[in-house]
Amino acid sequence: MIGTTADSASTRRPPGPVDPPVDTPPDGVRSREGLARPLAVANLVCQVGIVVTGGLVRLTGSGLGCPTWPQCVPGSYTPVVEQPEGYHRLVEFGNRLLTLVLTAVAVATLVAVVRLAGRSRDAGSASEGRGRRGLILLGAAPLAGVLAQAVLGGVTVLTSLHPATVAAHFLLSMVIVAGSTVLLLRLRPPTVWDHRPRAEVRLLVAGLAVTTAVVVVLGTVVTGSGPHSGDADEPARFGLDPRAMSWIHADAALLLVGLAIAVTVALRLVGAPESARRRSGDLLAVLLLQALVGYVQYATDLPEVLVAAHMLGASLLVVTVTAVATAVLDPRGASPDHDSPPGHLPSPS
Ligand code: HEM
Repeated sequence: MIGTTADSASTRRPPGPVDPPVDTPPDGVRSREGLARPLAVANLVCQVGIVVTGGLVRLTGSGLGCPTWPQCVPGSYTPVVEQPEGYHRLVEFGNRLLTLVLTAVAVATLVAVVRLAGRSRDAGSASEGRGRRGLILLGAAPLAGVLAQAVLGGVTVLTSLHPATVAAHFLLSMVIVAGSTVLLLRLRPPTVWDHRPRAEVRLLVAGLAVTTAVVVVLGTVVTGSGPHSGDADEPARFGLDPRAMSWIHADAALLLVGLAIAVTVALRLVGAPESARRRSGDLLAVLLLQALVGYVQYATDLPEVLVAAHMLGASLLVVTVTAVATAVLDPRGASPDHDSPPGHLPSPS
C-alpha cells in the first residue's frame, strides 16, 4: 500500500516530533478549530446557495426587478409598491438581502480563522508561519469575493444584464466556491500520501481542473447565446448559434467525463489514500448527473427547473473537483522522508 488515509496511517506511524500524528491538522491548526470549521461549512453552503437563488432571479426574469443599484428604485433602497416590476422586485430584492447573510457569514468565518491562526502562533516554525498566513488569506477570500460580487452584480444591473457581465458574475461565484472548498479542506485533516503521487497522476488531475474550467466557461457562453442569457424582456445575446455552442460545450463535457474516469481509475491503481479515492468517486457521480441534466435540458428546450439544477450541478462539480485536486496536488499531503517505491516519484527535498 503506497498511500493511506489519515486514519489508517495513524495506526501505522508512531507519533513524534518529526512525523506527527497524521490526523492532526498541520500548520498549527491542531484540533483548535473552534468555530472556524462549522463556519467554513456554512460559508460553502451559502456560496453554493446564492448561485441557485441568483439563477432563480435570472430564470424568473427578475434581474431588473430592482432597476437600479445600489438603490432598488431611484430614491429608495427597498422596493416600493408602485413599482411596475410586480413580484420581480421582491425576487431581486430578496436575493440582494441574501447577500447580506452571505457577507455576515463570510465576516464571521474570517474572524474565526484569524483567531485560530492567532492561537496557533506559539507553534513558531517558519513553515507554520507561512501556513498561518496562507490560512488567513484563504479565510479572507470569501469576504473579498462577496464584496467583488456585490460590485459586479451592480454592474450587471447597470449594463441591463449584458451576457458578458452575467457570465462574469457566475464565473466569479465558481472561483469563490472553489476557494471556500479549499478553506474548508484546510481546516480538516489532510489526505496523507506515504509518497508524492506520481507525475502522471498529478498531470491528469491538473488536466481535470483545467478542463472543468473550460467546460464551465463554455457553459456560460451557451447561456449567453440562448433564451436565458439575462431574461430581461429583450435579452442581449452574444449572437452565437446556441445549438453549435451547446455541442461544443457538451463535447468538452464528454472529455471531462473521460478525464474523471481516468483519474478515478488511476487513483485506484496507484493505491491512493482512501479519502482521495472517495472524493474521485463523488466527483464522477456529480459529473455524470450533471451531464445527464445537460442533455435533458437541451432536449426539452431548457425548462427553468433543469437550468437551475444544472447551475447547482456546476457548483457541486467545482466543489468535488477542488476536493480531488486538493487531495492530489496539495503538497501538505506528501511525506518527503520516504524512498519512492515503484510507481512514485521521489518527493522534492
Ligand atoms: C458535465 C459537465 C457540464 C458542466 C460542468 C456544465 C456547466 C454548465 C454551466 C456552468 C452552464 C452555464 C450556467 C449559467 O451561465 O447560468 C451551462 C449551461 C448549459 N449547459 Fe452545461 N455543463 C455540463 C454538461 C452539459 C451537457 C452534456 C450538455 C448537453 C448539451 C449541456 C448543456 C447546457 C446548456 C444547453 C446550457 C445553457 C442553459 C441556459 O440556457 O441557461 N451541459 N452548463
